[in-house]
Amino acid sequence: MARKLAFINYKGGVGKTSLIVNMAACLAQRGKRVLLCDLDTQSNSSIWLLRIERWNRINMEKRGSIYSILDPGEDRMKDIIIKDVVRDNQGNAQLPGLDLLPTTFNLIDIENEYKIDPQNPHYLIFNEQIREIEHNYDFILYDCPPNILNASQLGIFSADELYVPANPDALSLIGFTLMIEKLLLFYRRSAGFRTQEMGNFARVSGVIFNSIKANVDIGVPKMRMQLRLNQFKKQRLVSNEAKIYNSSIRDATIVRRAVTLGLPVCLVDSREVSEGVGKDYSDLAEEILNHDVNAGSSAGSSVASAS
Ligand SMILES: Nc1ncnc2c1ncn2[C@@H]1O[C@H](COP(=O)(O)OP(=O)(O)OP(=O)(O)O)[C@@H](O)[C@H]1O
Ligand SMILES: [Mg+2]
Repeated sequence: MARKLAFINYKGGVGKTSLIVNMAACLAQRGKRVLLCDLDTQSNSSIWLLRIERWNRINMEKRGSIYSILDPGEDRMKDIIIKDVVRDNQGNAQLPGLDLLPTTFNLIDIENEYKIDPQNPHYLIFNEQIREIEHNYDFILYDCPPNILNASQLGIFSADELYVPANPDALSLIGFTLMIEKLLLFYRRSAGFRTQEMGNFARVSGVIFNSIKANVDIGVPKMRMQLRLNQFKKQRLVSNEAKIYNSSIRDATIVRRAVTLGLPVCLVDSREVSEGVGKDYSDLAEEILNHDVNAGSSAGSSVASAS
């Protein structure tokens, strides 16, 4: 079964989308079958990987994206996944194995217009459909917006590991703390829908520092984050194995350029993979591959009941 990872932080702009797109590319380059699910109403990872023209076509249709699974509810996830999403101008697959479950701007309607069935909430419908397709993948990655509202809940309910991208600043730490509080509330509210078969709620497995400027010492923000992580571990609010990842991602202009080109960094410049920020993403992918906190353990068991 696929490892299902959600990237989430209550603070916006910390690098969730850049990390997930570039990580997904690194995993696909290693021969892994990867599905990236864009759960952000801003559609950033969908626009990045599809580029604006292809994405616009789906956006105009108002079908074929995540929201149409819920409303009108006629699309099935398995039919709307875009296989080998990264293509060149001739339509040739550039990164076989990387698929996208796209989103469009109508996902915003999940926050207000969508009438949630209290017996069958949005995250349960989404999870059922993920279960139909997860055997096709090694990794399913959820790119979440910076909150735990309805769109994020789709990924959080279904994930088995949570990753927290953070910048080396006080606001990222505040965002992390707030997120843990809100996660707990959501887990309590949704606990009644959790069957044994689904396994336990996901807990935070790792914090990843992003956008580290050259010659900036991140020792102090790292130490503060580690103290907070230790405190949450004691309260059993994060995984026992949760850690700050050794691989942090440097600040590099090519990350922003990659978005404009509609490519992950590793396809923009192969030199980056051996020496630049591409190597940071690649090291991170390797670290995540080797740090499967749920392999053989019962993760998350105490979250719903923790105080
Ligand atoms: N390592 C990096 N080096 C340089 N720029 C970066 C890096 N990582 C991210 N950025 C840039 O920072 C901005 C925010 O990044 P990104 O969109 O990935 O954050 P996010 O957490 O997904 O934001 P949101 O909360 O809005 O979803 C983008 O312009 C992105 O190109
Ligand atoms: Mg984002």
